[in-house]
Amino acid sequence: MCGIVGYIGANEIKSTLIEGLRDLEYRGYDSAGIAILEDNSIKSFKAVGKLINLEKRTKEFQSKGFGLGIGHTRWATHGKPTELNAHPHLGKFSYVVHNGIIENYQELKQSLQSNGIKFLSQTDTEVIVHLFEKNYKEFNDPMIAFEKTVQSLKGAYAILLISKVDPQKIYFAKSGSPMIVGTNKNNEIFFGSSDAVLIGKANEVIYLEDEEYGYASSEGIKLFKDQKEIGLNKKPLVGDKLSAQKGGYRFFMEKEIYEQSEVVVDTILGRVLDDKIKFDELDISFLDDIEDIKICACGTSYHAGLSGTYLFERVAKIRCDIEIASEFRYKEPLLNKNTLFIVITQSGETADTLEALKMAKRAGLKTLAICNVDNSSIVRLADYTLLTRAGIEKGVASTKAFATQSMVLWMLALYIASHKNTISKELLKSEIEAIRHIPSVLVVNDKLHEKIKRLSKRYLHGHGFFFIGRDIFFPLALEGALKLKEISYLHAEGYPAGEMKHGPIALADSELFTIALMPKTLLYDKIKSNVEELSARDATILAISPIEFELADDFIKTNYSNHPMSEFFEMMVITQLLALEISVRLDNDVDMPRNLAKSVTVE
Ligand code: G6P
Repeated sequence: MCGIVGYIGANEIKSTLIEGLRDLEYRGYDSAGIAILEDNSIKSFKAVGKLINLEKRTKEFQSKGFGLGIGHTRWATHGKPTELNAHPHLGKFSYVVHNGIIENYQELKQSLQSNGIKFLSQTDTEVIVHLFEKNYKEFNDPMIAFEKTVQSLKGAYAILLISKVDPQKIYFAKSGSPMIVGTNKNNEIFFGSSDAVLIGKANEVIYLEDEEYGYASSEGIKLFKDQKEIGLNKKPLVGDKLSAQKGGYRFFMEKEIYEQSEVVVDTILGRVLDDKIKFDELDISFLDDIEDIKICACGTSYHAGLSGTYLFERVAKIRCDIEIASEFRYKEPLLNKNTLFIVITQSGETADTLEALKMAKRAGLKTLAICNVDNSSIVRLADYTLLTRAGIEKGVASTKAFATQSMVLWMLALYIASHKNTISKELLKSEIEAIRHIPSVLVVNDKLHEKIKRLSKRYLHGHGFFFIGRDIFFPLALEGALKLKEISYLHAEGYPAGEMKHGPIALADSELFTIALMPKTLLYDKIKSNVEELSARDATILAISPIEFELADDFIKTNYSNHPMSEFFEMMVITQLLALEISVRLDNDVDMPRNLAKSVTVE
């Protein structure tokens, strides 16, 4: 979703803001803007499209000496991606940036318009700045005006506001959308909608909680909730800027595919012993009364969760189902207190997943988050968290997050199986061996990558792709298809192979590309028959399998392996590389595909 930055200090403000926005650009890139307040005057710049356009537009400008500024990179929700709709939004003497959605903006707008206030944009955000200025006129106190403004807003927001009437301060508020404030020893203050902006700059941070608001100046930060001042809960910020850079790869997505082997080592570190799985983060008694599991997630995280459902039932012998978070929220689900509610999320900020978690908590369920971002809203809310430890993921098309989520789910299934005694010692040991083998499975083989690069040229047209698989390879097929559509803009679907004959096979002809996931260790003969049925209708088949398949038009041979999860991870890499290379040939923006955003903090 959108990205927000803010800065108070003596560094050159424009470049500090733009540098911060660069770290957030992957979250939204329809337009970008900054506003800088120095010597009691505000300069603002906006540009449609990628951040580079804003950089060009601000080339001649440089701030001098101490000052403050705010910036924003947008993923359009209300109003098209035009310059007028880009943030910061201005009133007569103030500017605001906002992430989230103001649900009651229509009412607020009408009431402001009836007071003669003119709006320039179609956004929901613009009401904030006008409301602030109206309140200021009434109360003649910027803090009271800001407080009153925030009290009138319904919905989700992270807001930064600057105003000529109080030129030493940045006002901030947070509810439902993330906002982090960082400080350092040089008396600088940074704001970011993700801690990626603050890494390497701030050494202490405050993760704002919902309903908190306040202001910051060179004299420090004042934080309020319910009109009372509250203390600052500062935490040290650790992290390494290098992990957020491309490091010689063409794209973040490519780097992240190559990194999977290393990050999965982190995922299993300290958790996989010779004869057991250990999660220091969990109190084992937490599982005592659990009768079943419900998983809730969106997008790629949903696909990881779906493969998890097979593992929980097969290995841990515990009933498990999964729901897409946006569906779960409104279906009036019947919840049972003895269900373990698991949410899976890379960002920890996805609005639908967060709301689903709140519903489960309200219903008294035990909750567990599988998440990549420590201190994110979902991590802070869940009873327990297992961090996936994938490191910062910047490619909008998620790769290493999926790999690490799948790994955590596999380990968790074994952990629960041990707790419930549904697994023998011998089987557990051999599963552990299989887990330890995965980092080597994930190493990208240069020859394989070259082959996929060459082969990709045959898959740039056609009337659609079907990724098919069975069992845990069905969620992998869904994920393969999602990767392809996200970055190639070609139509792709994932389907359970056995279901093709119940409808989709009607589409089969030579222009229908079937990507068949044909593992040796799981239902090989079954999927082979399904692929034969498609081949008989002249569909073009790209088979991915360790076993030669003579009906394949193209064939990617995988290694012989004795464990389905090993085949799962190997095929995952292949489908990721295939999507990447098709996208590159189509000259698309691999890391920032059109219309998407990395973290979706609105409903
Ligand atoms: C967005 C991203 C997807 C991601 C989904 C869920 O749509 O583009 O890549 O899978 O959100 O995100 P989460 O952070 O909850 O895993």
